[in-house]
Amino acid sequence: MVRETRLNTDNLVYPLFVVPGKNIKEEIQSMPGSFHLSLDNLVKEIKEAKNLEIPAIMLFGLPKHKDEKGSQAYAKDGIIQQAVRAIKDALPDYMVITDVCLCQYTSHGHCGILKEGRLLNDSTLQTLAKIALSQVESGSDMVAPSAMMDGQVRIIRQTLDENGQGNIPIMAYSAKYASSFYGPFREAADSAPQFGDRKSYQMDPANIEEALREVELDLEEGADIVMVKPALAYLDVISRVKQEFNVPLAAYSVSGEYAMVKAAAAKGWVDEKRVALEVLTSIRRAGADIILTYFAKEAAEWLAR
Ligand code: PBG
Repeated sequence: MVRETRLNTDNLVYPLFVVPGKNIKEEIQSMPGSFHLSLDNLVKEIKEAKNLEIPAIMLFGLPKHKDEKGSQAYAKDGIIQQAVRAIKDALPDYMVITDVCLCQYTSHGHCGILKEGRLLNDSTLQTLAKIALSQVESGSDMVAPSAMMDGQVRIIRQTLDENGQGNIPIMAYSAKYASSFYGPFREAADSAPQFGDRKSYQMDPANIEEALREVELDLEEGADIVMVKPALAYLDVISRVKQEFNVPLAAYSVSGEYAMVKAAAAKGWVDEKRVALEVLTSIRRAGADIILTYFAKEAAEWLAR
């Protein structure tokens, strides 16, 4: 009765990985319980998520080929565009969020356009806007820019508005750290940078004031929901952002956080259910309204019992 924080299935978003092909459901080695899914199996998985009352999924795509510019990210028949159409055909009312980034689509694995090995922030913005618009035109209900390019929220907002998509909200990956907790995801999404790292555009894990500036900028540019990522090692950041801005706040409990719990549980060193629910509750306690988590389905099952 006196519990201060509640974790509900309503708070969860379930991230999924879609691949080309048919009848594919391959477990991602470093993320047991998470899969590469072809369209047919993706729709099945989303039906299950819907039955468990998980309110939304976040979609990541692995394209059939990559190039310098990441052109499959905005192709009309790109993997995400196809997937969103298939989901909307089968489940028109189910909420689909799409990640707007380039790293899965570029041959070099960076989140933007490169010139002589350097990432060009401003030249990347147009491409990000193109990706967001093509996802929304395929049926995406919300876009989540994650490239960490300065000005990405503004140009996406502007582009959506000019194309009659003013109702589509933006969930901005505002405070996204250059974190080593993304390791398993980069294997899952085949998105590791082929050289260098992401430190010129993602944030230094040692900074918190900068996170507040990033959030402030994204809100000014038109973000509807802001995000802190990762979650578990950044609970202080989540807490500060909630206190300073009091806006809808998401936290991404990333692949490495998930993998750690799974690995320890597999060894019998921690109780998976109790640890996972404790972590998710702590992220809520810190101030997150929305949690993106690979535990979404399991958590929904646990919470329903
Ligand atoms: C794309 C992106 C990443 C994640 C979500 N979107 C990887 C990265 O920045 O390298 C990571 C998610 C996770 O680890 O679960 N930029």
